Amino acid sequence: MIKVAFYDTKSYDHEAILEAEGAAALQWTFHDYRLTAETASTAAGADAVCVFVNDKLDRACLEKLAATGVKLVALRCAGFNQVDLSAAREMGIAVTRVPAYSPHAVAEHAVALLMTLNRKIHRAYNRVREHNFSLAGLVGFDLYGKTAGIVGTGKIGRCTAEIFRGFGMQVVAHDPFPQEAWATEHKIRYASLGEVLQVSDVLSLHLPLVASTHHLLNQETLAQMKPGACLINTSRGKLVDSAALIEALKSGRLGGVALDVYEEEEGIFFEDHSGAVLQDDTLALLLSLPNVLVTSHQAFLTREALNEIAHVTVTNLGMVNQGVFLPETLLT
Ligand code: NAI
Repeated sequence: MIKVAFYDTKSYDHEAILEAEGAAALQWTFHDYRLTAETASTAAGADAVCVFVNDKLDRACLEKLAATGVKLVALRCAGFNQVDLSAAREMGIAVTRVPAYSPHAVAEHAVALLMTLNRKIHRAYNRVREHNFSLAGLVGFDLYGKTAGIVGTGKIGRCTAEIFRGFGMQVVAHDPFPQEAWATEHKIRYASLGEVLQVSDVLSLHLPLVASTHHLLNQETLAQMKPGACLINTSRGKLVDSAALIEALKSGRLGGVALDVYEEEEGIFFEDHSGAVLQDDTLALLLSLPNVLVTSHQAFLTREALNEIAHVTVTNLGMVNQGVFLPETLLT
């Protein structure tokens, strides 16, 4: 029986994975802590490890996994910036991911963040609960007729763009690999990153984190954004330089920011820190600003997405002995 060490377990993915077809044929060990070089020895005896976005599979961690006989790293997410792929390749460890579980889940969360931020629903909700029915300070803007910029028109970016088109927004997009037929069909225009930054009232990021996209939004590029624009990031925290973001908010350059991901989210997001003093001053400052909305990397969290993640992950894990994986899920 294939043995799987499952890391960073939460109740919702524990339930979804055990309900997936084929899960009963595997032997599971669930750990609530993350997989790192420090915890890798707990994979001893396992054929595969199953990990999420904030586990850290650097060379040191992969060396320990290889030494214990782990043959597969099964990511239960789409992004793979947390794994040193070339080290895994060298060590003969296969790495699989779930390339598309529900682009709609993430796109709809990005739009929910924008709607909440713009119409100040989070503030209105709190006020009304205290019987404060005043509308002062709750003015938003019509999305209809405004311009949305989409950076990265992969699966999620395209869903998001289509929702924005449904609101009657203009959409300009930037991607090194433009999808021309799709753009024509939806009356979407591709432009340079510089132009997208300049013309967008709303900018939504849907590109992967790689070395060349680290701090894509920095002091210089944030300064190119349209004054008063809203920024939505549901992709990866390190796409945005948080210190520069705070400056752009303090100067009033940006009208609002909604983040589902944060540069230093590792060790903070997904956990309950409500009884502790938050040690991250940058996050604390962001949370204190009235025009900043933060969710804790929850864009993927729909029933449909969890079921699809579980299904594809269990399928990959079931194939570990044959060394044959669904080609579209295989990274090494
Ligand atoms: P995808 O691979 O389908 O699309 C990514 C697109 O980004 C591609 O079209 C690619 O050409 C484009 N791209 C690459 N470099 C670029 C650059 N420098 N400028 C503009 N575009 C660039 O990926 P998908 O499924 O749409 O996911 C996008 C990102 O969303 C993932 O990389 C992941 O980080 C994030 N994500 C976040 C989740 C959450 O819960 N918050 C859940 C799932 C994904």
